Amino acid sequence: MPAVIIVGTQWGDEGKGRVVDWMTAQADLVARYGGGDNAGHTVTVGEERFALHLVPSGILYPNKLCLMGAGMVISPARLSIEMDDLAARGVDVSPDRLKISVGAHLILPYHIVLDGALEAGRGKGAIGTTKRGIGPAYTDKSARIGLRAGAMRDPEDFAEKVYQAVEDKNRLINRVYGQAMLDSQDIAAEYCDYARRLKPYLTDVSLVIQQALEEGQMLLCEGAQGTLLDLNHGTYPFVTSSSPIAGGALTGLGFGPRHVTQVIGVSKAYTTRVGAGPFVTELTGTQGEKLRGTGANPWDEFGTTTGRPRRCGWLDAVILRYAVRVNGLTHMALTKLDILSGFETVKIAIAYDYRGERLEHLPLDAEVLAECRPIYEELPGWSEDIRDVRSLDALPAAARRYIARVETLTGVPVMLIGVGPGREQAILP
Ligand code: IMP
Repeated sequence: MPAVIIVGTQWGDEGKGRVVDWMTAQADLVARYGGGDNAGHTVTVGEERFALHLVPSGILYPNKLCLMGAGMVISPARLSIEMDDLAARGVDVSPDRLKISVGAHLILPYHIVLDGALEAGRGKGAIGTTKRGIGPAYTDKSARIGLRAGAMRDPEDFAEKVYQAVEDKNRLINRVYGQAMLDSQDIAAEYCDYARRLKPYLTDVSLVIQQALEEGQMLLCEGAQGTLLDLNHGTYPFVTSSSPIAGGALTGLGFGPRHVTQVIGVSKAYTTRVGAGPFVTELTGTQGEKLRGTGANPWDEFGTTTGRPRRCGWLDAVILRYAVRVNGLTHMALTKLDILSGFETVKIAIAYDYRGERLEHLPLDAEVLAECRPIYEELPGWSEDIRDVRSLDALPAAARRYIARVETLTGVPVMLIGVGPGREQAILP
């Protein structure tokens, strides 16, 4: 009855999609447990590149059941577009393959308007959200006024609920934030259509999981975002509003910890971040630009969801050790090692300097973190192109040393090394 959880160890965009895609071969069910279409999971299959935002990456394999858990916030509009895109490319997105938890909360147009208005109001303190309505949807969930996916079971009644919710939110949007009111009637009609379409997909995801685990099937939990974006354990307030860490898989899907056999933390071979907030190992000069790329390649460091350039920097072992702790990682997957080719030396932060004091552990206060300076260990780099390498032995010695150092610094074995975006561009030590 194994459940395997895949989590991001940094600030998202670690390449979880491709690790999930690789692990899916062994799984029966693949489940997203949190977040919404703020995520962008890229999977390259042959010549084809898929960017998934809501639908679990497992959909790209035939015969895997894909689940969207109660911890998610789902935009019916974006989900419909994503399902249409997948179907147009020959992917089966029928209710036999895809299920939506009745407990998942829905993102409505007013959440998106409010996300933009709240960000504008934050001025210089803006979080740099994806403006997909994520924060406002989770706010409504916590305030117990949100609309859940289960409400779509009765499309006509759902339309009335949507109408009333838009009317209520229009007061806030207009009177408090000075924004144009939304058309309640139009939105209600549009969402009634989404409900008709999505109704066959609604189910009790927790029950589906329990039955599958009892039959000895394997559940793969696909994390979105990353450890440092976690609402409880991230670099608050520069976080998302969900729980991307391993514990979020249990609450977001509704199963217990005794089933979990493996927790795989995905890390890039360096670090990136989109949006605002402290980033100790950030490189702002030419080295940062080299890591980012120009945007000409799909794997360059520009957001899958928003297209924003990502901030780039050296690998940070303080963050990785923290991720090992809060997620209980059993393994690591190290992606994009090929991007480090061509640096004369490569660096890993092993501790921080905070006002002259050496810190071994990640400070939880974002203001303290903003003042931390990295204490680096410098290792020899390698110049070889490693994109065609498929075994650890065939890697340059310096690259092998880098991986070994990551294992020593985190205390966790590396079980997959990504050397390119393709499904086959992986080394399994
Ligand atoms: P929100 O999730 O749109 O509210 O954004 C909050 C913060 O999380 C911002 O800094 C976003 O850039 C960041 N964020 C949200 N989702 C992702 C993701 O999938 N990858 C990377 N950063 C993300």
